[in-house]
Amino acid sequence: MSDFRIFEYEVNTAKLPDGAEGPVFCMLADLHSHSYGEDNSRLARAVLAQKPDAVLVAGDLLTGRLGESFLPAVSLLRQLRSEGLPVYYGNGNHEYRMRLHPELYGNMYAEYAEALRELGIVPLENEKAAFQAKGLSMVIYGFELEEFYYQKFCWANFQEEELERILGKPDEEHYNILLAHNPVYFHAYAEWGADLTVSGHLHGGIIRIPGIGGVITPQARLFPRYDAGHFRWKGRDLVVSRGLGTHTINLRIFNPPELSVIRLKGE
Ligand SMILES: [Fe+2]
Repeated sequence: MSDFRIFEYEVNTAKLPDGAEGPVFCMLADLHSHSYGEDNSRLARAVLAQKPDAVLVAGDLLTGRLGESFLPAVSLLRQLRSEGLPVYYGNGNHEYRMRLHPELYGNMYAEYAEALRELGIVPLENEKAAFQAKGLSMVIYGFELEEFYYQKFCWANFQEEELERILGKPDEEHYNILLAHNPVYFHAYAEWGADLTVSGHLHGGIIRIPGIGGVITPQARLFPRYDAGHFRWKGRDLVVSRGLGTHTINLRIFNPPELSVIRLKGE
């Protein structure tokens, strides 16, 4: 696979003073146990070089299959934590299915979550954590979308009421960040009150046609709206990573792996 590229996004918010430089985040998604350099040292160095205030994980750092090694994900996170970086971990469909189905995956998820906790990282399983940096008070939510919505050819609608039932109502006094692996329901996330949603899952659409975008989603939808990059709707933001790895279809065309850097700024 080709080397990762750094994609930078400026996200504006009225919750910061006019023009003020706010927190900086590195966002990781869909590593799928890939390693850049031994034990992901090259990727860890690239993250640390950005001097982010925190790291946001938008899921699928590993692939949910028996015998999967946690080493690439855990060693990456260990290097980030050893420099004192806060890491907020949201599960993707791969972590979630291991968590949901111990009858298929044994205690893999329990062991992985334990390895994260030993590093001082709490997997946000439909939970939230408060975070403060650069004068901005934030709440970071990790959201696990039910498996049903990940099925192939599933065009089901997901409503903000459902998100409120799962996560509660966000407090508009804070800047609310939602780690939501699947970007398809961005409008529901925004209506719920996510100021910023970070996602992955689509791997950039696998093949990207210059000027058009990503071709296909894991659910076999063609030319997805939220394939990669920064989107804004009703003053709420979404950043979708092209992902850092692949699985099953080990293919990326015009679609480099992505390390996302998100800079919040007052508008
Ligand atoms: Fe995924």
